[in-house]
Amino acid sequence: MKLDRRGFLAAGAAAALLRPGVAQAVSPLNLGADAADRGIVFGSAFDREIFDDTAYAALLRAQCRIGSLENSLKFDWLKPTGNVADFSASDRLVDFAVESGIRPRGTALIWNDWLPDWLKWTTVLERRSIMEKHIDEVVGRYAGRVQSWDVVNEPFFPPHGIDGGYRKGLWLDAMGPDYIIHAFKRAAAADPKAQLVLNEAFCEQDDELGKSIRPLLLNEVKRLQDAGVKLDAIGFEAHLRPELPYDDQAFVAYVAEIAALGVDVMITELDVNDSHMPDDEAERDAQVAARVHDFLGAVLQVPRVTTVITWHLSDRYSWYRGADWYADQVRAGGGTPGRPVRSHLYDDQLQPKAAAFAARDALKASGPH
Ligand code: XIL
Repeated sequence: MKLDRRGFLAAGAAAALLRPGVAQAVSPLNLGADAADRGIVFGSAFDREIFDDTAYAALLRAQCRIGSLENSLKFDWLKPTGNVADFSASDRLVDFAVESGIRPRGTALIWNDWLPDWLKWTTVLERRSIMEKHIDEVVGRYAGRVQSWDVVNEPFFPPHGIDGGYRKGLWLDAMGPDYIIHAFKRAAAADPKAQLVLNEAFCEQDDELGKSIRPLLLNEVKRLQDAGVKLDAIGFEAHLRPELPYDDQAFVAYVAEIAALGVDVMITELDVNDSHMPDDEAERDAQVAARVHDFLGAVLQVPRVTTVITWHLSDRYSWYRGADWYADQVRAGGGTPGRPVRSHLYDDQLQPKAAAFAARDALKASGPH
């Protein structure tokens, strides 16, 4: 077997881990290379677990060409107790990515959710300068290394009942919907070369929520462009929920409409919520794989879909694992709460599941991007 440099490094790192009882990171797949063959960038979210889990780090290195820091660049993780950032973890994570040939991505620079308590006690006037300082120091610190940012995350949530369907929160309170424009302009100034992304949830769903957000987001792209904002891409999270209505071709038509406005499109957080699937693992794996295959096969029809990122590569670090709301969903779906999550491409032992092969097949079947 002939290995290129990346493969050699990955194999070496994995070989170092071959101890009895320790899961091996050797995979028969190379999703990063298969995607690259089609002009697509493939990767995954990751975070501090890689400091200790060398097998998982090796798997990420072997499969990913891009990687989103799952949490460590979020406002509440950088500044949990006050307006002074602790970059110690994010610095290490960005270094790991760069050294591994994984392009690091930052998320979520400005998000109305998950803000620390101390921010609530600031005045509306103070908050605008807090946002500006945050963007300057975080984007500026990683300029040239973090090449892509979700500048604003999840701008819309119509159930909040706010004019324009915007997600409520402290940034919106302080600046109105123009917080989005200010954030993008500030980020572009802090790193003119970074890819600036507006990231949104739910649009893949053909239910009331998904269908209500789609036109709002489309109009937001136009609003930002009219305001002279540098907007490089729209990110669709794709935490797929197959128990809800979906229509991949309708979504593809929408993605094509977004792309026609002159922005790239990224799938930023792909996973398949398996909460409403049966307890039987083989059955669940088959259903998750089918959904991955069909969804990717559909969206990759749009040439401007440049990037596919999974929200963790392995069930070992699933964000569903241990979440109360996910246990409630499993219960509602008639399953046994506490059963292992099977939502991701690799299993808990870091072995590829049917979903990983399904992703490979969809990538290989894609036209050039
Ligand atoms: C999630 C992380 O995975 C969790 O660990 C954290 O507790 C909350 O955030 N949409 C997003 C991501 O844009 O940033 C979220 O990540 C998942 C939903």
